[in-house]
Amino acid sequence: MEKDSIIITSALPYANGELHLGHIVSTYLPADIFARFCRAKGKKVAFVCATDDYGTPILLRSEKEGTNPSDYVEYWNKRDHKDFEDTDIKFDYFSKTSSKENTELTQYFFKKLLENDLIYKNKITQLYCEKDGKFLPDRYVTGECPYCKENEQYSDGCEKCGRVFTNFEVLNPKCIICKTKPVVKNSTHYFFRLSKLSDNLKEWLSNNENLQTNVKNYVINWIEDGLKDWDITRDITWGVPIPLEEAKGQVFYGWFDNHLCYISSTLKYFEQNGLEPKKIWNESEIYHYIGKDIVYHHFLFLPAMRIGLNNEYKLPEFIPTRGHLILQGEKFSKSRGIYIGLREFIDEFPSDYLRYYLARITPYDQSDVNFDWDDFQVKINNELVASIGNFIHRTLTFINSKFEKRIPSPGEMSEVDKKFIEEIKNIPLVTGKFLENNKTDKAIREILSFSDKCNKYFQEKAPWSSNDGNTTLYICANAVLTLGTIISPFIPKASNHLFKQINVENEINWNEAGDIKLESGHEINQAEILFEKIESEKIEKKKSELGQETQ
Ligand code: MF3
Ligand code: ZN
Repeated sequence: MEKDSIIITSALPYANGELHLGHIVSTYLPADIFARFCRAKGKKVAFVCATDDYGTPILLRSEKEGTNPSDYVEYWNKRDHKDFEDTDIKFDYFSKTSSKENTELTQYFFKKLLENDLIYKNKITQLYCEKDGKFLPDRYVTGECPYCKENEQYSDGCEKCGRVFTNFEVLNPKCIICKTKPVVKNSTHYFFRLSKLSDNLKEWLSNNENLQTNVKNYVINWIEDGLKDWDITRDITWGVPIPLEEAKGQVFYGWFDNHLCYISSTLKYFEQNGLEPKKIWNESEIYHYIGKDIVYHHFLFLPAMRIGLNNEYKLPEFIPTRGHLILQGEKFSKSRGIYIGLREFIDEFPSDYLRYYLARITPYDQSDVNFDWDDFQVKINNELVASIGNFIHRTLTFINSKFEKRIPSPGEMSEVDKKFIEEIKNIPLVTGKFLENNKTDKAIREILSFSDKCNKYFQEKAPWSSNDGNTTLYICANAVLTLGTIISPFIPKASNHLFKQINVENEINWNEAGDIKLESGHEINQAEILFEKIESEKIEKKKSELGQETQ
């Protein structure tokens, strides 16, 4: 976080079905927490996202539902945006890959890459289904992974080993519509010379110290194994049109245009704010948050296309990559009922609980994260309710009832008081360091150990029976204010609620969050419960719903 201006993106959800907890854990929540933290540090932040509208699965789906693809993606765009908002995933700009801006930028990139001799044409033989009368690009075909031999993979890549490949390499291909074996037919396609940029990519990866080492290393291995040129053409109607007369009727592959939407949306956002879009893009520190299943695309295709334009649009400094969500130890799967939809969750529990729990258990690496209902209950009840919430509530109710809602004036400070004030000063620094380095789980653990200390201080000082209760409550009120800021990236609803209770309107800059700011005489509002305990019946019910198959 060296620069003043920070651009944060999170992988674009396909406009093809609802968001679930798996999306939130790896990508949107870590990105939102980081964005909120940066804003609290006083940085200029552009946090953007969009729906990923193109691609064969979406076309297939809309065809199946009897709508046209643009209405179909519009529906999901609105729905996703609403679900994000209700989870306090607060984008500064939310767009779609089928926007005018993104279409133009994609076509611009293509023309530049063509000029720079990074695109060539090639006659390819393609899979074609005679029964359906259609070319069968990527997801219209399933088969066996040519590398690890995993069954039932789409023909554009393997979910098991993470490699990307083409239609032709997949073994035992089948048409997804009618399950028959496709035939081979000719078509002219455009290819991106990914192989030519191997050295540039390797250099960029090796020199970028911000990228997580293990991801970087396996991407470098892929490069050393030899990169294949990349077919960026699809013979379907739904996509960004290839801007050449001779390519009439052909569109770009979705992975050619989707990540460009990071750029087009950010530029649009800057433009709307009267800023110089391209200049700010290039002066900002750039973070692309992703899940581990799309490493290939973000560590190879994305940088290669920017390198191909001679860095006209700067490459990212960070690509924070996290693992998948598993549920009660099992792989997430909608069809097997091992699944929790985001909407369903936030309709039943406060979104802060979800944010707290997921951030608490998600490390900054690619290991999978296990959502466990019992553990969820324990962490919410023992940590959020019994430690953080309890300290805040006992402090505010004490001031309400014993000091007529006014912060008392402190007397002489003892060693214990001074030591606690040091803890208050220190906690934003410690948590801030972890947050700067994307270690949200560690940051939460620090906050928790701080709130434990707060409770201990309160307990030991026993203000109800001592004569320096005013010193204690003066300091505790300030600790509450500090907590209000440092919990804000994680649980923004509770943070807002807390600020209302202590009657402080302005957001406090993170750098001042450890200052003793609440002065004696300041009047606070009625104390209210911040967090309610989760009852076991509710957890048992959720557990019993798991594993019910849907289709
Ligand atoms: N829609 C893709 C997925 O869910 C991610 C797109 S991210 C972007 O896997 F880089 F392409 F924008
Ligand atoms: Zn068919």
